[in-house]
Amino acid sequence: MTTVGIYFGTDTGATRRVAKTIAKKLGSELTGKPINIRNAEVDDLKQHQLLVIGSPTYGEGELPGKSTGNMTESWEEFLPKMAGADLGGIKVALYGLGDQEKYSRSFANAVRYIHDQFIDCGAEIVGHWEIDDNYQFKASKAAIDGRFVGLILDEDNQKELSGDRLDSWLANLPIPQTENV
Ligand SMILES: Cc1cc2nc3c(=O)[nH]c(=O)nc-3n(C[C@H](O)[C@H](O)[C@H](O)COP(=O)(O)O)c2cc1C
Repeated sequence: MTTVGIYFGTDTGATRRVAKTIAKKLGSELTGKPINIRNAEVDDLKQHQLLVIGSPTYGEGELPGKSTGNMTESWEEFLPKMAGADLGGIKVALYGLGDQEKYSRSFANAVRYIHDQFIDCGAEIVGHWEIDDNYQFKASKAAIDGRFVGLILDEDNQKELSGDRLDSWLANLPIPQTENV
């Protein structure tokens, strides 16, 4: 298992594309192929020092999954399986995709539900993200005390900002060092 594990949910592929970009930027010494959460077991999450966890938001501010019309199972079905799991000692960096124009009152909410479940399992959340003036939304459950609980990207309206946002977010993550052998 790799030092960094990247797990994502997606319906139309954007969150997968971001996962692949993150994997490329981190490099193969640290991380392997990103894994769709519908193909993961809870025990898989325990094999890494740092988890990078991605999700879009569907419905009106809901987790992606069958009840929000996604084609496959996703975080909606996975989160209940995490109940009672011990993820103590594991760092978790969250990223979310959303559409702040069409869903201005439920922008990237899903990331908050995932955040809360990882906290319940004893994980340490890293990679909080400042809400700068480029973001224009009315409400987001992913915002706590003026910061997002993770990196929030808007590939629908602000794709051109995503590269720089990703780079500065990754630069500030506590990436574990690999031993050179
Ligand atoms: C039916 C539908 C509902 C959505 N609901 C929300 C929402 O409540 N909040 C939000 O921020 N984005 C919402 N979005 C936008 C998606 O989260 C966004 O397009 C995302 O990039 C899709 O990621 P994916 O390609 O990985 O599935 C919605 C999109 C669709 C099609």
